[in-house]
Amino acid sequence: MLGNTFGRMFRITTCGESYSGGFRKHLPVPPELYGGQIVIVDGVPPGLKLTAEVIEEELEKRRPGLSEFSTPRRERDRVFIFSGVMEDDLTTGAPVGMIIPNTDIGDAHMQQHKANRELVRPGQASYTYYKKYGRYYDWAGAGRASGRETVARVAGGAVAKIILDAMGIDVIAYITEIHGIKAAPVTYETAKANYRRNEINCPDLEAAQKMMEELRRIKAAGDSCGGVVEIVARGVPAGLGEPVFDKLSAMIAHAMLSIGGVKGIEFGDGFEHARMTGSEANDTPYFDEQTGRIRFRTNRAGGLLGGISNGEDIKVRVAVKPTPTILKSQETVNISSSENVTHIFASRSDPTICTRIYPVCEAMMRMVLVDAIYMAEGYRKVISAIDPGWEDL
Ligand SMILES: Cc1cc2nc3c(=O)[nH]c(=O)nc-3n(C[C@H](O)[C@H](O)[C@H](O)COP(=O)(O)O)c2cc1C
Repeated sequence: MLGNTFGRMFRITTCGESYSGGFRKHLPVPPELYGGQIVIVDGVPPGLKLTAEVIEEELEKRRPGLSEFSTPRRERDRVFIFSGVMEDDLTTGAPVGMIIPNTDIGDAHMQQHKANRELVRPGQASYTYYKKYGRYYDWAGAGRASGRETVARVAGGAVAKIILDAMGIDVIAYITEIHGIKAAPVTYETAKANYRRNEINCPDLEAAQKMMEELRRIKAAGDSCGGVVEIVARGVPAGLGEPVFDKLSAMIAHAMLSIGGVKGIEFGDGFEHARMTGSEANDTPYFDEQTGRIRFRTNRAGGLLGGISNGEDIKVRVAVKPTPTILKSQETVNISSSENVTHIFASRSDPTICTRIYPVCEAMMRMVLVDAIYMAEGYRKVISAIDPGWEDL
């Protein structure tokens, strides 16, 4: 399998599946080493205070079983840091390696997956994995396409968060839509004040009630639904992003669309731009006496012009598809016999994955930003040497 590394200067490489450890239970190793997720983070600066607790705090946000809207899971995720950190929990500058074991691989679940291994799972990656990897493909729990894979991203993103905190850059994500029920537009301040104040992390507290009612209805019907997650980055300096192919917008899109279940992305007013005139769409600049810099009256562009950050909030929304696993009878095909059948894939599932995806979006945005800062600052250093004072222009 190719493509398990993301980023240029701040970079993660991940491995791990959902259930493969269930096939290694016979090995004479502690159960934590049967299977799980591994992430190697490259480009970590020295001197960061990095403990398992700091990482686990982020992982806790995406853990299943935290509310009535997510699948039950017995234990919280534990992280074992095994490299890149020395005395007093400080990073040394060497790659940080982390293991997050999968401790919830029940034999009953293994049997469930085994019994249905010949059936194509609607909405999941099982058919395409089968076509690509053939008879040895991982048929248990979606393998690398599993939501479990995102644990490694969140762990990497937690390292990026420490770096961004030190630079005064804040990233938050929250739910703005569930199955067509929309939150009112929220400011960064409201989103911050209401962050995780309800089980679905929707900052419009009234709309959140309606969304939760809808999720209860959907769950009772054995179905699932999609939604929208908004991600905001505040404090991002102007000048991040490398045109032409490595625009910051392109890097963010790459990051978000690499998350399983994300079907669309828009920046700022996004698709609304298609219905505007130029005079409506343009964010007009002005000189702000207070900050002593050029700012923009509106932020329809979502903080990006020419793929480069303009100093305003970076605002992104992603469309999340309904959880493919539903408790309803669906048409499918038996791969071995080529028979058309109907089947209910009775399994653990969430009425929506939005509630678990938002920490993954935060992590991906954070890693993209740290990577972009490394790239931009290295380049800036050279320009400054050649043309001192260019930043005053
Ligand atoms: C955090 C997270 C949790 C997920 N949980 C489930 C799940 O419980 N059941 C399921 O069928 N798909 C789940 N998925 C979705 C699958 O990973 C995804 O739908 C699948 O990879 C195919 O979607 P794609 O075509 O968008 O990649 C989850 C995804 C994420 C990111």
